[in-house]
Amino acid sequence: MIDLHSHILPGLDDGSPNIAESLEMARLAVADGTTHMACTPHIVPGMYENGTENIVEAVRSLEQALRRAEIPLALYVGADIHIAPDLPDQLTHGKVPTLNSSRYFLFEPPHHVLPPRLEELALRLVKAGFVPILTHPERLTWGKANYEVVERLNRLGCLIQLTADSIIGAFGRTALYYSEKLMDEGRVDIIASDTHGASRRRPGLSQAYDAVAKRCGEDQAYNMVVRRPSDILANRPLEPVGKTFANKPSPDKVGRFGGFGCLLKAVSS
Ligand SMILES: [Fe+2]
Repeated sequence: MIDLHSHILPGLDDGSPNIAESLEMARLAVADGTTHMACTPHIVPGMYENGTENIVEAVRSLEQALRRAEIPLALYVGADIHIAPDLPDQLTHGKVPTLNSSRYFLFEPPHHVLPPRLEELALRLVKAGFVPILTHPERLTWGKANYEVVERLNRLGCLIQLTADSIIGAFGRTALYYSEKLMDEGRVDIIASDTHGASRRRPGLSQAYDAVAKRCGEDQAYNMVVRRPSDILANRPLEPVGKTFANKPSPDKVGRFGGFGCLLKAVSS
């Protein structure tokens, strides 16, 4: 499986504090079936001042440590990029990294406040040739009262990433509810661990994979943790899956295993 969202690099943000913890996170990920992982520390102006240069360096150094410890986990450069008005320029000039130098990057809005002009920023990014991957909309507290913003971001070209722990209920009932809603509407492009440590918010996608497979079918689970993440790392073109299935009848009326996930399964198989 391919995990495109992790805070495994030591000392760069609120994720792993040191190399020992990073190695333990890598061991846990591998034991759970993860073979490839994007290292995506936070980039938040004034708080986590990371950029392409120091992230690339940290990835190279963790790669060496993994080799020495004989842990078979392939690493990729990335970042969990908080919204900023100059983001299109920063990405264009390579100051902040996309995922493995592709057109795709993790796009993180604030958790508790819907920022003004979020859609305008997303549109500017798309027009600049990038594909924002909206991180964990199911966990955004403003998503509840502004669900249509998530729908519009999806329609204008943002991919949707759920956090694996949300799907298994570890982030509470609201995050679970919105995870299932987004899945049932056929909007979920990828799932990722967003791991922050070896004991708190551990890595691993297998439990979420099983939950998605049960709800939407094995094909969809595979698409979310293998096929689409691998397309992203290879910079192959991807349309948000939600775009294809927008404006279809209510998920309640589709299928008996949870709506569009199963419809998608029928279409793709
Ligand atoms: Fe994150």
